[in-house]
Amino acid sequence: MYSNLNEDISKVLYSEEDIKQAVIKIAKEIENDYQGKNVLLIGLLKGAAPFLCDLARNININLSIDFMTASSYYNGTETSGTVTITKDISIDVKDKHIILIDDVADSGITLTYLTNHLREKNPLSVKTCALLDKPLRRKVDFTVDYFGIIAPNDFVVGYGMDYQEKYRQLPYIGILKETVYS
Ligand code: IMP
Ligand code: MG
Repeated sequence: MYSNLNEDISKVLYSEEDIKQAVIKIAKEIENDYQGKNVLLIGLLKGAAPFLCDLARNININLSIDFMTASSYYNGTETSGTVTITKDISIDVKDKHIILIDDVADSGITLTYLTNHLREKNPLSVKTCALLDKPLRRKVDFTVDYFGIIAPNDFVVGYGMDYQEKYRQLPYIGILKETVYS
């Protein structure tokens, strides 16, 4: 069904349906919490792009969308610990409530760093959101405000998440076979 890409996956952790349910759950939470407020969703490229699009389509209140690019991974499966912003937002945020959106909260370093960066722009508030939360992988004290699914420590791909820039287009989230890394 997923042709040869599927052959690189050892296990599907979350199906398209699992993801859809998680996205709807978060969308309804955000909808409830931000009634009558001026919301800006900021997606972290590239991983959060599919998630942000699906999430936004399920939030039935007025909102704006922007994107940032930051990197902390150097082609491996572990964070380098330093975050570099290569594309910042272009919208004025002084009258906005920001929700910063990533595919997965892992060490917590990226979302912590970018939350601090965005607070310096003086928005009304900054909260964070990730489809997957891997709380046991934290390297810094960080709690994600909105999450879809608590995930195990495994490195995963699909639905935006990559290994060496591949597998982002998979509609599900899975674990790669060991042979892919060798
Ligand atoms: P953190 O700063 O360690 O929380 O890193 C978050 C970033 O690491 C996310 O934006 C992802 O791009 C990447 N990442 C963390 N875990 C995974 C994974 O299991 N698969 C793919 N990318 C991941
Ligand atoms: Mg990322």
